[in-house]
Amino acid sequence: MGTLYIVGVPAGRADELTFRAQRTLEEVALLVTDEGTPAPDLPVGCGLAAPSVPVTDTEAILAALETGDVALLLDERRAGPSVSASGLIRAALEGGFPVVPVPGPSLPVTALILSGLPADSFICLGSLPAQPDERQALLAAVAGERRTLLILASPASLPDTLACLDDALGDRPLAVVVVSGEGTEMVWRGRLGEAAGQVVARADWLGCALVIGGARQPTDRWEEARLRAEVRARLGQGLSAREVGRQLSALSGWPRREIYRLAMEVTGNMDNLDDVTAQREPDREGMLNHVAALPHQCRQAWALTRDLKLPPHHRRANKVLIAGMGGSAIGGDLAAAVVADSAPLPILVHRDYGLPAWADEHTLVIGSSYSGDTEETLSAFEAAHERGCPLLAVTTGGRLARLAGEWGVPLLSFHYRSMPRAAVGYLFVSLLGILRALGAVGDLEADLQEGLSLLESWGAELAPDSPVERNRARQVAQALYGRVPVVVGAEVLAPVARRWKCQFNENGKGWAYFEVLPEMDHNALSGLHFPAGAADRLCVLFLTGQGLQPRNRLRLDLTRQILEEQGIACHAVPVPGRSKLAQALAGVQLGDYVSCYLAALYGADPTPIAEIATLKRRMSEGR
Ligand code: F6R
Repeated sequence: MGTLYIVGVPAGRADELTFRAQRTLEEVALLVTDEGTPAPDLPVGCGLAAPSVPVTDTEAILAALETGDVALLLDERRAGPSVSASGLIRAALEGGFPVVPVPGPSLPVTALILSGLPADSFICLGSLPAQPDERQALLAAVAGERRTLLILASPASLPDTLACLDDALGDRPLAVVVVSGEGTEMVWRGRLGEAAGQVVARADWLGCALVIGGARQPTDRWEEARLRAEVRARLGQGLSAREVGRQLSALSGWPRREIYRLAMEVTGNMDNLDDVTAQREPDREGMLNHVAALPHQCRQAWALTRDLKLPPHHRRANKVLIAGMGGSAIGGDLAAAVVADSAPLPILVHRDYGLPAWADEHTLVIGSSYSGDTEETLSAFEAAHERGCPLLAVTTGGRLARLAGEWGVPLLSFHYRSMPRAAVGYLFVSLLGILRALGAVGDLEADLQEGLSLLESWGAELAPDSPVERNRARQVAQALYGRVPVVVGAEVLAPVARRWKCQFNENGKGWAYFEVLPEMDHNALSGLHFPAGAADRLCVLFLTGQGLQPRNRLRLDLTRQILEEQGIACHAVPVPGRSKLAQALAGVQLGDYVSCYLAALYGADPTPIAEIATLKRRMSEGR
């Protein structure tokens, strides 16, 4: 029976390999390289005689251990064994094979020593998650941590990593330690707030470690009143909110983003809306680009469904149920509202686990999930399979795509890298294509073309470089700033109102609500009075458009009148478009832009949704 050696190997200078490691590598029968780690630059002849396999090849590795020794190479740029390497170690231990570490150089430990920061107790986060929301949730969780933080990064991801650290942790001491062919050295020491732009990765760097001072004592942090006064004074000297944030972060102990937000609040002035950089700056992950890509998404989705042929079982369906959550459900609401006047069968959106009792073998169940891994949607999809419903999946992959493959059900798979809500063009228009293939709606081609040209012409006016005088989205964002939005819509604009609310939550990071007319007039209209002062913080937007039923149009005007009589801030927001489809698309586009501008006013990056990511993680841990 062989031994599994875990051998620490250098990424840089080959002569940093220890004698023991060298001997082990020469003697083993098999070398195992860790995922994502290229074979290290070892001294000629050393260990290279043995064949090598990736760590994921567990079966081959365990078989090799039956007859000889195996060495797993642990690259010094790692905080520890990767998830796959830990899996292998566990499998070896469970198989009764001895596991012996052969320590070698370690970038994290060297970095701690070179940093000069307290190193007796520290937290190593490894590499930051690639997903923005997971990254933000992780950094938020350690922002108050007093111990030294250690983060590993590749040279290519360094600028991005520094920018998010500055945003999330505020100004603190920082040491950047790198490993190159020359060995390990500290290349920069200063403050996190100054590092961006000053630390530029060199081509010969192989890996970086960032050592960051822990959070300061709370007593070091300025009182909010003092910060406010200082912010006011500096704005008075003509500095921009961004510059004030940069200057005060180190002095006050407040994160730069918080100061920026405060500066915007103190000025109460939206001049920054005219400043394109002010909008672009917090939009680190490019949400505005996805909003601009809406027409492209719609075209792609329409093309994807052009030749869709549904099996006879599907075509016999007399009800349609769309199972989805959040950004993957709203397309269902929009599609149902667009075809409400013409579709000969009910189309319902189901946002829950399981299925309602009425869903039978004549109900087409469409599982709609961007990720394909949303548990509620999967639960409904699985229940529908058990019940013998005809099924169809719309997704980019995940378990939903795997189930569709296993069960041989039609799969509309699209490839667009974004947050789910930013792929709304795909998730909405593909459903219209499915309804067309089902024979449930007529030819929507002309309406779609109207919508697409509207998106393009009006979109140019709403884009970040279009001035505020002409830019309806920026004007609406100004009106909403500092207030809780309540968006009211009727008929096809009801799901649009819901979309606005969700985008104000997820992109704008703020409270928001929506109401649907005529229902609102039978309840919400009475709830204007308490608690005292609540209504002063609201801004109610009434979405209006051509083609509304006359009684609903009258309701909209009268409802608004009653709210205004109570002193509540109200705005009518006309949504262009002759057809319902064009109106739905234009309404989504306008609201999406407004949500990004609102995020910019609050100094928030529209993309990450830290709390949703945290909740999803905790739900999966609680399983
Ligand atoms: C995130 C978003 C969320 C998701 C929801 C379901 O951008 O919009 O509302 O859409 O959590 O996830 P998916 O869409 O992957 O099924």
